[in-house]
Amino acid sequence: MPIYEPGLGELVASNVAAGRLSFETELEQIVSTAEVIFIAVGTPSRRGDGHADLSYVYDVAREIAGSLRGFTVVVTKSTVPVGTGDEVARIIAMASPLADVAVASNPEFLREGAAIDDFKRPDRIVVGVEDDRAREVMTEVYRPLYLNQAPMLFTTRRTAELTKYAANAFLALKITFINEMADLCEVAGADVQAVARGMGLDNRIGGKFLHAGPGYGGSCFPKDTLALVKTGQDFDRPMRLVETTVAINDQRKRAMARKVIAACGGEVRGKTIGILGLTFKPNTDDMREAPALDIIRGLQDRGAKISAFDPQGMKAAAGMVSDVQFGSSAYDVAVGADALVLVTEWNEFRSLDLDRLKNEMRVPVLVDLRNVYEPHEVASRGFSYFSIGRSSETEAARTAAAEE
Ligand code: UDX
Repeated sequence: MPIYEPGLGELVASNVAAGRLSFETELEQIVSTAEVIFIAVGTPSRRGDGHADLSYVYDVAREIAGSLRGFTVVVTKSTVPVGTGDEVARIIAMASPLADVAVASNPEFLREGAAIDDFKRPDRIVVGVEDDRAREVMTEVYRPLYLNQAPMLFTTRRTAELTKYAANAFLALKITFINEMADLCEVAGADVQAVARGMGLDNRIGGKFLHAGPGYGGSCFPKDTLALVKTGQDFDRPMRLVETTVAINDQRKRAMARKVIAACGGEVRGKTIGILGLTFKPNTDDMREAPALDIIRGLQDRGAKISAFDPQGMKAAAGMVSDVQFGSSAYDVAVGADALVLVTEWNEFRSLDLDRLKNEMRVPVLVDLRNVYEPHEVASRGFSYFSIGRSSETEAARTAAAEE
């Protein structure tokens, strides 16, 4: 597998073995026999303006146009701005005027690290189609999941395209809301975990995506929120809440380095800081927009030496940061450290042997940016403990939060 995704290797291997999955390099052959074609290429942020770069999507449309035979549904799975399906249809019609094609939009809502389960048990399947035959084909494609009770929402192509951005932007906003609330909790003497629970038990709000942390990262939220902001500007309907979300999240990732510095007494020059977890979330090797990158650079700028360990992300991280000493375990990284910073909540960091860690460290300071530990539990082992949005912490962290 070119990426780390739990269960994916086994799933691909078993379907190849069963003859249900094959890979080709000749486009003509697979396109001419296909009834449905999913376009699932990347739509990264275009350098400079944040607009989604659609060149890969349009390249596919151009490349397949000449080989389409019989009625074919071309489905955009990639996250694409509203109106992209229209352009895909136009490109195909220009290149191949006689092709019998319907273009549909079918956004994906998978989370990395849980992608297979999210696919098999989706909250909903959104399909944007303008053509009855295409609707039938898509119903057939998703029949197994439909029989599994997954709600299927048919809508127009433009509505489906926008639904994906609306969902991602709203989740990013929800996280950002609780992150700001966490900062307030820290100075106001409240506990953000309890606030989130008290809010989340309200069915209208829901408890998910209310976990305060170092800011969202990954391959989706950062780029999709930017792209939606751009769409809003293009249509002269600014998405002001999303614009603010993007700005707050960017600042937050940088502010986390200041939080660590404050936890170290305001000075990290010459000190060794151990980073536990590099990827933007657990169960992936994806380093895109990971908060760890901003934190490491922020600490290095202030003269800190960095050691780091991540169960899957070190290879990708090595190409994105410099002067980082990679360790072989959390305990390895703790050796001689003046502070440990838990950045990604991998399972193996949830039950660390705190006494062993403390013995390895030069100074027992733990900055827990995911609130994995209970403050009193860590403090009772002799650590100075700092987390997110919990008031039982020292004045240093409060001052840092106030400065942000
Ligand atoms: C996201 C969407 O969830 C998914 O529907 C879409 O298809 C792709 O983008 P993904 O980026 O894989 O999925 O991960 P997700 O679990 O959503 O986490 C994104 C970021 O938000 C991570 O950095 C995570 O740490 C952070 N996060 C998430 C929080 O800080 N708090 C939370 O409560 C939830």
